[in-house]
Amino acid sequence: MFCLWQPLTKLFLGHEGIGVIEQVGPGVTDFHVGDRVIISCVTACLNCDFCKKQMYSHCRHGGWILGYTIDGTHAEYARIPYADGSLYNFPADGDEEAMVMVSDILPTGFECGVLNGQVKPGDRVAIVGAGPVGIAVLLTAQFYSPAAIFMIDLDDNRLAVARKLGATALINSKDGHAAHKVMELTEGAGADVAIEAVGLPATFDICQAIVGAGGRIANVGVHGKPVELHMEKLWDRNISLTTRLVDTVTIPMLLKVVESGKLQPSKLVTHRFAMSDIMKAYDTFGNAAKEDALKVVLTNGPRS
Ligand SMILES: NC(=O)c1ccc[n+]([C@@H]2O[C@H](COP(=O)([O-])OP(=O)(O)OC[C@H]3O[C@@H](n4cnc5c(N)ncnc54)[C@H](O)[C@@H]3O)[C@@H](O)[C@H]2O)c1
Ligand SMILES: [Zn+2]
Repeated sequence: MFCLWQPLTKLFLGHEGIGVIEQVGPGVTDFHVGDRVIISCVTACLNCDFCKKQMYSHCRHGGWILGYTIDGTHAEYARIPYADGSLYNFPADGDEEAMVMVSDILPTGFECGVLNGQVKPGDRVAIVGAGPVGIAVLLTAQFYSPAAIFMIDLDDNRLAVARKLGATALINSKDGHAAHKVMELTEGAGADVAIEAVGLPATFDICQAIVGAGGRIANVGVHGKPVELHMEKLWDRNISLTTRLVDTVTIPMLLKVVESGKLQPSKLVTHRFAMSDIMKAYDTFGNAAKEDALKVVLTNGPRS
């Protein structure tokens, strides 16, 4: 199960997954050989100043390192440093594919999008980007009963998935009029929460154009290029803008909701491959729009 980030050197990619413990290091106290576990996409030592503030993403000894600065999870074996802070016990009756979604996309959508955006009952929420992360925002925003959820993307297939998972209006932004449509749907008031889940200047611009007075822009996307901040339009809007690298501090809570069956993230899995077919899996992921792919699962060995 993966999303692609640009590694700094030649490394095994991957920062999501579940597995069975084969060996434990001398400092590990909470996990034992044979335990089934969920791997957090973020490694936490639990002892540094950032970990003590629950900002695991900025852990002095870990953070987002899997598949980025150390070998990741797209391999037969993966070494997870600081296991006590970076692994979670696999629930007895847990669904394997659902649990992989708990590694990254669910906490990312929830923490960076929904919690930072302070989604409240009755809010009108606009989510720009209907990829796995945008869909995770869509699923977890519904914990708070927003009145409307507008989903914006270029891909009609992804928008159709969003409709099935709770979006109340779909907007294909290919024509460049997405912001106008959101303003129409809100009778000119704009969105209470605009969540950026793509990582491009164009999609950040949509968020700036649609945020209503008193609203929030919650950025989730990873940006590689500068964006223009339109202070000439936003200065009097009483808005707030947040950014965040996922901390995965909500994994224990999300696990309970998934276990209860109230959240079914396995619906995001569209393709499955054996580890021996990993190149086919990368091709599918690389052509996600053409292949109608959302999450792609890689399995090493038999599935239980
Ligand atoms: N902040 C964090 O901690 C964190 C963690 C994980 C992922 N991310 C980031 O979240 C973002 C989304 O991740 P994903 O896995 O869903 O990515 P994805 O590439 O699968 O999905 C992005 C979606 O954006 C759509 N899109 C592209 N250009 C658009 C445009 N101009 N208008 C509307 N839609 C457009 C695409 O069609 C696609 O459906 C990425 O930038 C990813 O790196 C951030
Ligand atoms: Zn730490």
